[in-house]
Amino acid sequence: MPGRGLPLPLLLLAALCPPAPARQNPASIAVVGGGIGGAATAYFLRRRFGPAVRLQLMEKAAPGGRLATEQLHGQAYEAGGSVIHPLNLHMKHFVQQLGLSVAPAQGSLLGIYNGEDFVFEESSWYLINLLKLLWHYGLNPLRMYMWVEDILDKFMRIYRYQTHDYAFSSNERLLHALGGDSFTLLLNQSIDEAMQRAGFSHKFINEVVCPAMRVNYGQGVNINGFVGAVSLAGVDSGLWSVKGGNKLVCSGLLSASKAEVIHGTVLSIEPKVRPGPTGDPVKLYQVTYNTGSEVTGDTYDMVFIAAPLGPDLANISFKNFEPPIRQLPNLYHQTITTLVHGRLNTSFFGYPEPATFPFGVILTMDNPNLFFNSVGKVSPVGAASREAELPSQLAVWKVFSKEVLTKEQLNLLFSSYDSLKVKQWLAYPEYRPPEKCPPILLHDHIYYVSGIERAASAMEMSSIAAKNAALLGYHRWHGNGHRIDQEGLHEKLKTEL
Ligand SMILES: Cc1cc2nc3c(=O)[nH]c(=O)nc-3n(C[C@H](O)[C@H](O)[C@H](O)COP(=O)(O)OP(=O)(O)OC[C@H]3O[C@@H](n4cnc5c(N)ncnc54)[C@H](O)[C@@H]3O)c2cc1C
Ligand SMILES: *[C@@H]1O[C@H](CO)[C@@H](O)[C@H](O)[C@H]1NC(C)=O
Ligand SMILES: *[C@@H]1O[C@H](CO)[C@@H](O)[C@H](O)[C@H]1NC(C)=O
Ligand SMILES: *[C@@H]1O[C@H](CO)[C@@H](O)[C@H](O)[C@H]1NC(C)=O
Repeated sequence: MPGRGLPLPLLLLAALCPPAPARQNPASIAVVGGGIGGAATAYFLRRRFGPAVRLQLMEKAAPGGRLATEQLHGQAYEAGGSVIHPLNLHMKHFVQQLGLSVAPAQGSLLGIYNGEDFVFEESSWYLINLLKLLWHYGLNPLRMYMWVEDILDKFMRIYRYQTHDYAFSSNERLLHALGGDSFTLLLNQSIDEAMQRAGFSHKFINEVVCPAMRVNYGQGVNINGFVGAVSLAGVDSGLWSVKGGNKLVCSGLLSASKAEVIHGTVLSIEPKVRPGPTGDPVKLYQVTYNTGSEVTGDTYDMVFIAAPLGPDLANISFKNFEPPIRQLPNLYHQTITTLVHGRLNTSFFGYPEPATFPFGVILTMDNPNLFFNSVGKVSPVGAASREAELPSQLAVWKVFSKEVLTKEQLNLLFSSYDSLKVKQWLAYPEYRPPEKCPPILLHDHIYYVSGIERAASAMEMSSIAAKNAALLGYHRWHGNGHRIDQEGLHEKLKTEL
């Protein structure tokens, strides 16, 4: 046993000094995808592996991925991922490190529409809202707040684990390390089931929880309990976004990582064996990509895939693996973002007099006759939040819907409009509990970052998965098994610092 017989101070010293690396760092690493997941992976890989490793990142479109802005009337608006929770510590850290600024989310009055009437109308008076909530839903809102808080508390453990360099080899293990069986159980149930079991009323679930799922994930209360809870946390106060656009975090992380960004679509990955400098065979991965002008590629020691796999998604084929790595049949949900500069048709919502219409955000209950999930007034990404408080009628509105809105539908929803932008997304997984997350480890040194989205899709989830994958890759490369899949970390780290 090493260290035996050493005097205690030396023993302690030995325990504090990390052992010499068991082997050399990898020479070159590929990252597929330049969204927040890929950009954060590159950033964390650089921090872990240092300046010498060659880091290349392939992106088929523009860096940012599902973080993107659209121009309307000379101003840019978030068309994809838009709000960030105040306790999303990785996103916060990135913004600080990169010297970016934060724009607080705008506050405007919220109405919940069932297709005929508003079942809940927010008032600008705090006390009135409190009384209204009590009147309509009893203690359900307060209990929901506590229920979500409890989940969030456990979720926050991830930052501690990651600060202490611990990694997990599967998404389920990661979630289990945070909240035990209660977390993995959330993946097995719908948010509807989970909240019913916790004693919430049908009325509350349908009128408050469901509209939150519809605006955040385009789906109803049949989505899994974990993503449901993430979605409810998104109803918290203190939400923010990045001034100038959230995608600035991606470009910022990419330059901070000093990764070489290659504009190309990765087509396939194949294992290769080459004789190394000492004559021993070295295992590598051949990554083939299409730059538009040519199909080319290179070999890498490690590959990180930070784009959703699936035939209609990243569509990467894994060639000559034994056992084979199959395509994931990952179903993604279509959501259409429509940005409209115009006047809302308040008659449509039962307010014939536009000036009396109080709402800046309209969420909806599940109703097959409704052709949209939500409508909300938005500010440009560069603006101070006050600008959202302009007279409510002429504004830029963001509509989320399952299908592209027809002319007729737009004419119903808006009494007039002069310009619009439509963005079609395969936005997030189509959630169907019981949910099983895809593996992180696809092969010895191929890591899949995006699988965590099956539990919940959000910028912070991709960032957490990115750090986990970078740590996992590092520890597996250097044989640091004691940093992987440790049980009882929460208790252990309580006493450690
Ligand atoms: C409308 C909408 C609203 C949302 N709202 C929020 C929100 O308010 N808050 C929040 O936290 N999250 C929100 N999300 C979710 C959030 O945007 C995503 O979870 C997050 O951006 C995913 O980042 P990612 O890097 O994992 O994936 P992506 O952003 O999809 O990045 C993957 C990248 O890989 C590239 N790529 C794919 N295949 C290949 C290939 N074969 N070769 C090379 N490159 C490839 C793609 O072009 C893309 O840039 C929203 C999403 C949508 C669509
Ligand atoms: C969730 O369901 C899977 C099967 O789908 C099962 O193996 C697992 O034990 C369940 N987890 C919990 C916590 O109930
Ligand atoms: C996916 O890639 C294969 C080749 O690897 C190609 O034949 C197929 O058309 C692609 N699918 C889509 C939807 O682009
Ligand atoms: C507005 O909504 C009302 C009620 O749904 C509808 O009759 C009308 O055609 C809509 N459009 C305009 C421009 O008022």
